[in-house]
Amino acid sequence: MAMFSLARPLLHRLAPERAHRLTVWALRHGVVPRPCVPADPALAQTLWGLPFPHPVGLAAGFDKDAEAVGPLLDLGFGFVEVGSVTPRPQPGNPRPRVFRLPADRGVINRLGFNSRGLDVAERNLRAFRARHPGGIVGINLGKNKETADSASDYAAGVARLGPLADYLVVNVSSPNTPGLRALQSRAQLDTLLARVGEARDALPRGQQPPLLLKMAPDVTEADMEAIAETARGPSLDGLIVSNTTVTRPDDLTDVNAAEAGGLSGRPLFGLATDRLRHMYRLTEGQVPLIGVGGVENAETALAKIRAGASLVQLYTSFIYRGPEVITDILNGLSKDMRSANCSSVAALVGRDA
Ligand SMILES: Cc1cc2nc3c(=O)[nH]c(=O)nc-3n(C[C@H](O)[C@H](O)[C@H](O)COP(=O)(O)O)c2cc1C
Repeated sequence: MAMFSLARPLLHRLAPERAHRLTVWALRHGVVPRPCVPADPALAQTLWGLPFPHPVGLAAGFDKDAEAVGPLLDLGFGFVEVGSVTPRPQPGNPRPRVFRLPADRGVINRLGFNSRGLDVAERNLRAFRARHPGGIVGINLGKNKETADSASDYAAGVARLGPLADYLVVNVSSPNTPGLRALQSRAQLDTLLARVGEARDALPRGQQPPLLLKMAPDVTEADMEAIAETARGPSLDGLIVSNTTVTRPDDLTDVNAAEAGGLSGRPLFGLATDRLRHMYRLTEGQVPLIGVGGVENAETALAKIRAGASLVQLYTSFIYRGPEVITDILNGLSKDMRSANCSSVAALVGRDA
């Protein structure tokens, strides 16, 4: 852990994507100490039949090509979501396309689904599964920029990677692929999910993972209601709330605040948590929700849980704080649970909704 505290100022002198590549390289080559992650049975939960050791996972986008899944689990994440994976390899947008906003503790990215495609992800995931018996891995699916029939891309992802996934995510919420977020509307969502559901149901029995939808925080009330209604039906098993925002809060101060792209981290927390709470109410607590956006310590993790999240994920705070953010959150959550005399984190889900 101390190594990360030493490395971080150096990493943050590099361009964000270069620092990211170096970190993934270090993880893959085992230059990572195993932290002592406290095992607290009160933090464990079973969802979709999966035994989550604790509720803190790594959000999509850090390990897009599933290169470092084992080392990331070893760092202490309770689960890791890889992707977004597009069917065919694609380079994404021109660089620079990731910007730190240290003054606001945020990041803006307009990567545009840079992905090495299904072949590479499948190979990496197979190698991971052969080496690592346990570990919960979600696979987040995207679409190629040029594909007109979006559903065919998601269905291809389900067919190829479904058997390797503990859960699958249909990502219709990244702001950097033209037309993608329109798939969240009532007009398009049910058609899309019908095709994706067919692909999942065509997988061999026992290899049909739960399907989650990852939504944007920038949706209309009508979209929220449509998503909630769909999520309560048979075509979805859960929701991830939320992706990055294209809005810019007035109080951003960093020079990079005007960059185009999706904003994540601390400035996203309020908006994403409001959306989460609203979605918990709309789904009447019947649909498992993963809360993402600005989780950076025990307080923000607990706020997500109390707003309705059964699990939380983070990415941006991992950039700013390194792996200590995980142990910090877990220690804080355990302490909060003890002082509230609460024996299971599940009992706190939706308390403030
Ligand atoms: C550099 C970067 C790349 C991302 N790439 C993806 C992606 O490929 N797919 C996806 O669903 N979300 C992606 N995200 C969004 C995150 O998964 C997460 O929803 C968002 O960053 C909010 O969480 P945070 O505030 O903890 O970062 C990306 C985020 C960042 C910062």
